[in-house]
Amino acid sequence: GKATMEKITSLAKRRGFVFQSSEIYGGQAGAWDYGPLGIELKNRIAQTWWKEMTQLHDDIVGLDAAILMHPRVWEASGHVENFTDPLVDCKKCKARFRADQIDPEKLAKKECPECGGELTDTRKFNLMFKTNIGAVEDSSSVIYLRPETAQGIYVNYKNIIQSNRMKIPFGIAQIGKAFRNEIVTKNFIFRTCEFEQMEMQFFVKPGTDEEWFNTWRDRRWKYYEKLGVKMDHLRWHRHGPDELAHYAKDAYDIEYLFPMGWKELEGVHNRSNYDLSRHMQFSGKDLQYIDQDNGNERYIPFIIETSAGLTRSLLMLLCDAYDEEYVGTGDPATSDKNSDDWRTVLRFHPNLAPITVAVLPLMKKDGLAELAQDIRAELKEDFATDYDQSGAIGRRYRRQDEAGTPFCVTIDYQSKEDNTVTLRFRDSMEQVRVHRSELVQRIRAEIKN
Ligand code: GAP
Repeated sequence: GKATMEKITSLAKRRGFVFQSSEIYGGQAGAWDYGPLGIELKNRIAQTWWKEMTQLHDDIVGLDAAILMHPRVWEASGHVENFTDPLVDCKKCKARFRADQIDPEKLAKKECPECGGELTDTRKFNLMFKTNIGAVEDSSSVIYLRPETAQGIYVNYKNIIQSNRMKIPFGIAQIGKAFRNEIVTKNFIFRTCEFEQMEMQFFVKPGTDEEWFNTWRDRRWKYYEKLGVKMDHLRWHRHGPDELAHYAKDAYDIEYLFPMGWKELEGVHNRSNYDLSRHMQFSGKDLQYIDQDNGNERYIPFIIETSAGLTRSLLMLLCDAYDEEYVGTGDPATSDKNSDDWRTVLRFHPNLAPITVAVLPLMKKDGLAELAQDIRAELKEDFATDYDQSGAIGRRYRRQDEAGTPFCVTIDYQSKEDNTVTLRFRDSMEQVRVHRSELVQRIRAEIKN
């Protein structure tokens, strides 16, 4: 079964992954709320990325910088001047477009792609949210919401070298919110005004940057392989000269085949020494690295950046995991898609699934519910668990399939006799009998496979 954006959006709402922000007021465009399953999934994506980048790399450390930064940061970074989208409006129907996203011929003729009316001139629109800090609202109190997490890393790089005795090459990883005043926010959580990024900045000696750039491209590709993402849904896109961000010397996107087509998932950028040079210039502080192992040679490091969207990854993983499977015995072609012969299943990697194990007593009565609660209490030290005792067991399995739960443990009458339970696997729907005392180990082993 194919994922469409409508199916993903409705499943996400129905099962409590993602809700529209401020829904009772008609919703707030560009903002979304993560429900009980959504926050679990988001946390696990973040943990997986964090482990990959810090725990598995001895030369990368973490940081959590503030969202609010000195306004000079964004002058130095070039965002005040350059972080703009080219916008046009239709004078007739008032529709608003990004000039680079409409047919160039229509743009040249100033013809609205929607109603044929006349378009305004193209103007630059800065994507940064601007507000004021303190009691006075004047130009001296202007402050921005960060449009990327990266700058928090650059302004701290010397602190981290000193506090943690880091030597080049090394990296700093950070996960956090970023904000952009995006004009076009369709496609669910793909492009939003408030989102989260998982960024890593790797500081290298000038001249070694191209090699490190290739190394990081390679590592980031393998990361998605490890997550079990459909690799034929991923491809590289190299930025042409007109696509490069103002800071980039070279850039490749990892693109994913979303239901609406190939779209950027993550960017790997060679930012050269642009950011640190500019911060040196604007702050007046010496941001050169002193290479104590090489006769105190001084240089401004080059930076290789890997920048993935956390919330966008969540959308990607929902799309990638989504499946509709025929589980009946007749001919799937003539069967009713809404019947019990079909199941919707989210085939998340077990490390990413919001719930790892669901515990289900076959019946509530005869002490089965109590036994099941007891087993759940045992499992929850090790796994995210759920408990469900209502409705037919087949229905309960379906509910867990739809939440992407990789393992169900069912407690039946035999469990009372011999302390064994049924372990059911989401993908194969196979069931095996396992002794209660071996359950944790067995599930751990299955996750590692
Ligand atoms: N520090 C570099 C940087 O921010 P970017 O290509 O502008 O580069 C990196 O953004 C990643 O952040 C994108 O690949 C995407 O996953 C995510 N992202 C950017 N804008 C977003 C938005 N408006 N909504 C959701 N995710 C966004």
